[in-house]
Amino acid sequence: MIIRQANESDMPSLMKLEEECFGAERFSAEIVRAFVERDDTFVLAAVEGDDIIGSAMCIVSDLRREGRIASIAVVIAARRKGIGSKLLKECENAFQIQAALKFSLEVEATNEPAIKLYSGNGYEVKATLQDFYGPGRNAYYMEKNVDPTKREIKVHSA
Ligand SMILES: CC(C)(COP(=O)(O)OP(=O)(O)OC[C@H]1O[C@@H](n2cnc3c(N)ncnc32)[C@H](O)[C@@H]1OP(=O)(O)O)[C@@H](O)C(=O)NCCC(=O)NCCS
Repeated sequence: MIIRQANESDMPSLMKLEEECFGAERFSAEIVRAFVERDDTFVLAAVEGDDIIGSAMCIVSDLRREGRIASIAVVIAARRKGIGSKLLKECENAFQIQAALKFSLEVEATNEPAIKLYSGNGYEVKATLQDFYGPGRNAYYMEKNVDPTKREIKVHSA
């Protein structure tokens, strides 16, 4: 498995992954394409052979020196093998290369697998956002601060 930046030619595979992982709540093709194309966003793909088995969609705010994780998804058949964790680490590496001092995300308060993935990697719940995903569906806002003196810059290899 390698992790590399996704590009326009990955759109069909990324949309298939969105459908499998998020169903009706998937991002639209317009939104995914924007994540792939914009200068302040990027998409990482976990690739096994010819297949994209995971993705992470990210936003970088230069002004706030913040990296935001909009989504991480892994195909059902490949879960609990560390791929989500590897995608998260590569997002953080990319944010650090762009000098972010803080990583953040929102996650549905009932999404135990994702909350465990993030809390196990140093993210802390800073706020509960009421009805963020619709009536009665709250989100946790989670954050991880980077100590600039301990930054480990790794250059993306894939
Ligand atoms: C959340 C998700 C990305 C995790 O991907 P993954 O590749 O299975 O994650 P990892 O194998 O790296 O797991 C890392 C840790 O997260 C936690 N975790 C992951 N899945 C879990 C589950 N089903 N139940 C409990 N804890 C879980 C565990 O602590 C795990 O460590 P461990 O396996 O050593 O116990 C995956 O479940 C997914 O795609 N879910 C659907 C999409 C989604 O909700 N994304 C997050 C919101 S944007």
